[in-house]
Amino acid sequence: KIICSAAIRGAYQIVDKADKKLAEAIAQKGAGCKVEFPNTAYYLPIIYSMTGIPVKTLEDCVHVIGLARSMLPPLPAEKHWVPYLGHTLDAGMATLFAEEIYEACKYLIGPHPVDGIWLGAADDVIMRERGIEFVDGTAPGFAAIVGCAPDADTAVKIARELQQKNLYVFIQSDNFGVSFAEQLAEKGVQMGWDTRLVPFGKETSAAVYSLGFANRAALSFGNVPPGDFKRNLLYNKNRIFAFVLALGTKVTDEQYANAAGAINYGFPTITNIDIPEILPTGVCTYEHVVSKVPVDKIVDKCVEVRGLKISIHKLDIPVPYGPAFEGERIRKEDMQIEIGGPGVPAFEYVCTKEIDEVEDGKIQVIGPDLDEIPAGPGVSLGIMVEVSGRKMQPDFEPIFERQMHRFLGEAQGLFHMGQRDIIRHRISKEAFKAGFRIRHIGNIIHAKFHGEFGAILDKVQVTLYTKKEDVERLLKDVRAAYTERDARLKGMTDDSVSMFYSCTLCQSFAPTHICVVTPERSGLCGSVSWLDGKAGYEINPTGPNQPIERGKTVDERLGQWEGTNSFIFNGSNRSLEKVSLYSIMTDPMTSCGCFECISAMLPMTNGIMVVDRDFAEMTPCGMKFSTLAGTVGGGLQTPGFMGHSKFYLGSRKFISADGGLARVVWMPKALKEELAETLIKTAEELGLEDFLNKIADETVAQTEEEVLNYMQKVNHPALVLAPMF
Ligand code: SF4
Ligand code: NI
Ligand code: NI
Repeated sequence: KIICSAAIRGAYQIVDKADKKLAEAIAQKGAGCKVEFPNTAYYLPIIYSMTGIPVKTLEDCVHVIGLARSMLPPLPAEKHWVPYLGHTLDAGMATLFAEEIYEACKYLIGPHPVDGIWLGAADDVIMRERGIEFVDGTAPGFAAIVGCAPDADTAVKIARELQQKNLYVFIQSDNFGVSFAEQLAEKGVQMGWDTRLVPFGKETSAAVYSLGFANRAALSFGNVPPGDFKRNLLYNKNRIFAFVLALGTKVTDEQYANAAGAINYGFPTITNIDIPEILPTGVCTYEHVVSKVPVDKIVDKCVEVRGLKISIHKLDIPVPYGPAFEGERIRKEDMQIEIGGPGVPAFEYVCTKEIDEVEDGKIQVIGPDLDEIPAGPGVSLGIMVEVSGRKMQPDFEPIFERQMHRFLGEAQGLFHMGQRDIIRHRISKEAFKAGFRIRHIGNIIHAKFHGEFGAILDKVQVTLYTKKEDVERLLKDVRAAYTERDARLKGMTDDSVSMFYSCTLCQSFAPTHICVVTPERSGLCGSVSWLDGKAGYEINPTGPNQPIERGKTVDERLGQWEGTNSFIFNGSNRSLEKVSLYSIMTDPMTSCGCFECISAMLPMTNGIMVVDRDFAEMTPCGMKFSTLAGTVGGGLQTPGFMGHSKFYLGSRKFISADGGLARVVWMPKALKEELAETLIKTAEELGLEDFLNKIADETVAQTEEEVLNYMQKVNHPALVLAPMF
């Protein structure tokens, strides 16, 4: 039908355009010139995942353009219709190949894809961080927005609605020169990965950043081999909730071609634009692969078409609420008040009470609320959360307290920073105008504590103190309680407990992976401590955290017990027989994909290097973090390589079977600085002198040889340790 012929016409235009751009790039840079999207191990990801071709040079691009051209169906005569969808789908794929090449050339010869509000391609660090949310369900998927809304206010409304449904909003393409992202920018809406509003690019070809992201999720989390286009597309159709939202007054041929590309992934298009004919479904299970809906119903329609189940907890507050608002910053000019900050007494404190000492749902503000508090910084606030419940243990207090960051941050117009007695929160003018008051902080805490910790807590009561003298008075007791807690936690070692906890949350994408979490080794993502595991088990006894009775010792030095081994054997679908908790060389723990750091052996140095997710440069082992991550992840045991948390690096049990911290010969400077305090302390406990300065970083060594030279200069202790293998 008309859409088909328009899509095919669009595909021809796009392939021609890419061809021209490529010729320009070759003229300027030569055919041997390297092409890449920044910082990714997946080359040009759509091409790589569909064909298995790793495009590395402009020369490679020439071949792919040829391939794209060969996929183009015969150009239909004007007003003719194409009888079946197959041709259109091919044209859609050819479009995406050509556009990836076009965008990659822009990285070489301009206009640069990163410009102003436009972000260009997401690197692998972002992809792993955000892609995981698609897999674990924190974000159901994304809306790919093309064109623009009838006006800027409507754009904001649509964006907010999508954010509240926890979706990512990927923005590309314009409608007669105006794009959705520009409309949001005009209204001062914050964009960027943190807010889930992601402006990729103004050109239609920027659609490849959205779809390529989806392909990489399948390669990385779904373990789909490159070139297996069928599985990759099915993975996306079944697991990534995504759709194209085409807004505006006219759909161009190029946009039709891209819509056809998206249909390959099972992503339907929903639009408010009058389309002459609606295409009935040929390959998709949707009623229509393209549906027309009035703009005010459009988000509802998307959800309906794609069958999204949304569980928005209805909160009694006057501002939108959801994870998309967590990353939002509130600038000084936009804030009504700032709570806490240097020299301003403020705190958050959760404490356990007897059942009859707590009145559930009681929320009190002692002192003035926002109407009487002068606008500006320096506001004192004490948030006292008193809870009770048969299963509540004082050990869980810090766990619940830490979640307040998420609970409060998810309210739009409330910015949460810090914890305990060093908090610094902001409430925006906009939220204040919408009716948000201090007492709503209590509403949120009450609802979320019940919602998420209901298995443990029976009653929750919140008191908000807004008078400085009250907060100062209370702080004495509260600080004493923090100190006591810390002392109790510090005393906890692996040997002092008989029970470890499992975490299998990541099995949805690494089916054999299990984290064994102990007091001295947290989950490799860094967000599950032993206490978290314990609380997790109480909250959900059949959930991902199960107790593991250690049982008889198999090897004390390696950290193997009968209990842990048999748990892993059964939990890994019988694919792993044993795991050492304290070794990287002998039966190391497996990794899923969300490790904070990777340790890798550097054979020449008799030691290991550690690299964290934020370090994007090359490392001495010859691989960047993103490439290493591909080697280590997926639930496999790879002796000499291991993913782990930052916490574990500072633990006395860190690869203690292989020589411990003394083996660390290189790590990024920023990581060294971040962990300096605990590393210095642990090094001292282990009798290592001036150790931090003996660890090389990228400023002194970039290759294995340079690391070795540095080690010899500073007399690094790993030089005299027993050989690693
Ligand atoms: Fe759980 Fe480990 Fe995944 Fe963290 S990395 S969520 S601890 S399985
Ligand atoms: Ni209640
Ligand atoms: Ni994981």
